[in-house]
Amino acid sequence: MIAENLLPWYDKHARDLPWRLSPKQRLVAPDLQFADPYHVWLSEIMLQQTTVVTVKSYYLKFLSLWPTVHDLAAEELDSILSAWAGLGYYARARNLHRCAKVISKDFAGVFPDNEEALLTLPGVGPYTAAAISAIAFDHPSTVVDGNVERVIARFYSLQDPLPGVKGKMKDCAAKQTPDKRSGDYAQAMMDLGATICTPRSPACVICPIQENCQGRKDGTAVLLPKKAPKKIKPTRKTYAYIMKDEKGRVLLRRRPDKGLLGGMTEVPTSDWLQGEGPVHDPLMSSLGEWDVLDGVVKHTFTHFHFEITVVCGGPSVAKSEAVKKLGARWYHEVDFASLALPTVMNKILKHAEFTV
Ligand code: ADE
Repeated sequence: MIAENLLPWYDKHARDLPWRLSPKQRLVAPDLQFADPYHVWLSEIMLQQTTVVTVKSYYLKFLSLWPTVHDLAAEELDSILSAWAGLGYYARARNLHRCAKVISKDFAGVFPDNEEALLTLPGVGPYTAAAISAIAFDHPSTVVDGNVERVIARFYSLQDPLPGVKGKMKDCAAKQTPDKRSGDYAQAMMDLGATICTPRSPACVICPIQENCQGRKDGTAVLLPKKAPKKIKPTRKTYAYIMKDEKGRVLLRRRPDKGLLGGMTEVPTSDWLQGEGPVHDPLMSSLGEWDVLDGVVKHTFTHFHFEITVVCGGPSVAKSEAVKKLGARWYHEVDFASLALPTVMNKILKHAEFTV
């Protein structure tokens, strides 16, 4: 069993992470055995598509702004989106808010302790439900993230490619999940994957589970898990219109609540079109002369690459009827930090030489 060798290693080498009660911390605080479910849930949602290094400061900021799930539930969505800005995948922030409201109202602020009930919550999928169940409640749930997939693929020398091999991986992982210290085990697997069983240069010689690792015996560990070739992402193109008034303010607007970057703040753009392009927005281009800035801003979303040509217009294009039609407002540069500006919009503003 992996746990036999992994848990003693974790007792010594667990990473110190702000949302975690490590074995060493528990030794000095015996009355605190498991991390607060609110903390575990918040960190796991943030960690879904973002690295540990990036999440740390956001996690601490959220806890200082909203120390309990009731505080988060009572907050305006816009403030949560502003605090989330930069973490990406903003549907997570909207679901975070919805979930906080459900927990606060329907569950009296108490997170359920089993995967089935956790799965009913907004934004909580099988991975997150298992992680909360294991880490916050020490239930023997099988937690499988990218790190765990790698460790399991190597340990069992699973040669079939992802994503087809996922089911087999989950079965193998479930067989290894111990009945005791399940939360520590889940986090130990993540730490092993992040620090020793790394994607490109696994440090097998110091690995606590090297003895029984089939991938190491085969010499294939570093090649696993194999991945089916990725689909090529299309590229969409647009113009972004930086409209300035006499006071140096810039016109920004709120995106619709539904869809990509829903509810976030944006620089007005033309349609995001695939194929040749970009194509101008008729209203914006009718306003007057726009200066095209050199170069393009590039950004990649989950399903497409995005190329933005930035154009700037001064007071001659800043007409009040356009502002009304656009549903936009004027903002000073100093106010940018308080807005829910997603990374792609920050890139556009930087390209136009604003400080963000
Ligand atoms: N990645 C996702 N969840 C994690 C956790 N609880 N600890 C470390 N890395 C993680």
